[in-house]
Amino acid sequence: MRTICFPDYRHLSDFAADEIAIAIKNKPDLTLCMASGHTPALAAELLVKKLREEKIDYSRFTFFGLDEWVGLPPSNEGSCHYFFQQKIFTPLALKPSQYFLFNSLANDPESECVKMDKAIASKAGIDIMIVGIGMNGHIGFNEPGTPFTILSHMATLDEVTRSVGQKYFKQETSLNKGITIGLGHLMNARKVILMANGNKKAEVIKNAVEGLVTPSFPASIIQQHRNAVVLLDEEAASLLDNDLVTKF
Ligand code: PGA
Repeated sequence: MRTICFPDYRHLSDFAADEIAIAIKNKPDLTLCMASGHTPALAAELLVKKLREEKIDYSRFTFFGLDEWVGLPPSNEGSCHYFFQQKIFTPLALKPSQYFLFNSLANDPESECVKMDKAIASKAGIDIMIVGIGMNGHIGFNEPGTPFTILSHMATLDEVTRSVGQKYFKQETSLNKGITIGLGHLMNARKVILMANGNKKAEVIKNAVEGLVTPSFPASIIQQHRNAVVLLDEEAASLLDNDLVTKF
C-alpha cells in the first residue's frame, strides 16, 4: 500500500481522474468500480473531462456502482444511482449495457447481489476500484464487522452511517439498509484507490492506514491489498507518520 498526500482536494481528485483515464486509454475494456459520495465527486467530473478532451475511447469500458441505499428510487437526488447518472453516465452518454447498478427497489435484494457478482465475474473481475471511507471506517456499505471475504450483500446500516448519510438528502430520510459490492471483490480488484479529504477524515485514515487490520474497522483491509494506493489531502493525512507518506 502506498500513501500519497496532495496539497488539496483538487490535486488529489485530478490525480485519481488521471490514473483512471490513463488506465482506460491503455486498456479500453477496463472495468471500474466506483463509489459515489462527496469524496469522489470531483474526480468523477475530472474523469469525464479528461476522457472527452483527450478523446480516449471509453466505448468499451464497464462501470460498476459500488453501493446503493435500499428502497430509494433512482430519481432521489441522494441516491447513488442519481449521482452516477448525473456525473458519469449522462455526460459520457454511456450505453446502459456499459454499467451495472444495484436495483434498490427490487423485491428480492439477494438476487440483486447474485446478479452483481455474476456481472463482475462475466467481465473477468474489477480492474480499478475507487472508494471513500466512512466515519465508522466502512467502505461502501461494508459496515464494521463485515468479513473481508464477503461478495455483494445487503447490510443493515449502522448508526453512524444512518446519521452521517443524511448529508446527501435535502430532507430527513429513513436509511436502514444498504446493498453493496463486498470486501472480497475489493481484495480481488487489480488496483484499489482509496481517497479521503478534510480534517474530519484524519482519524479514520490513521486507523485505516496505521491501525490494526480488523473487520471491526473495514477500511483497514487496504493494508492487505497487493496494489492499493491511498490518496489524501494534507488535512486527512495530518495524523499520519510522515515517513510513510509520499508528498506530491
Ligand atoms: P463521503 O462518504 O465521500 O461522502 O465522505 C464516504 C463514505 O461514507 O464512504
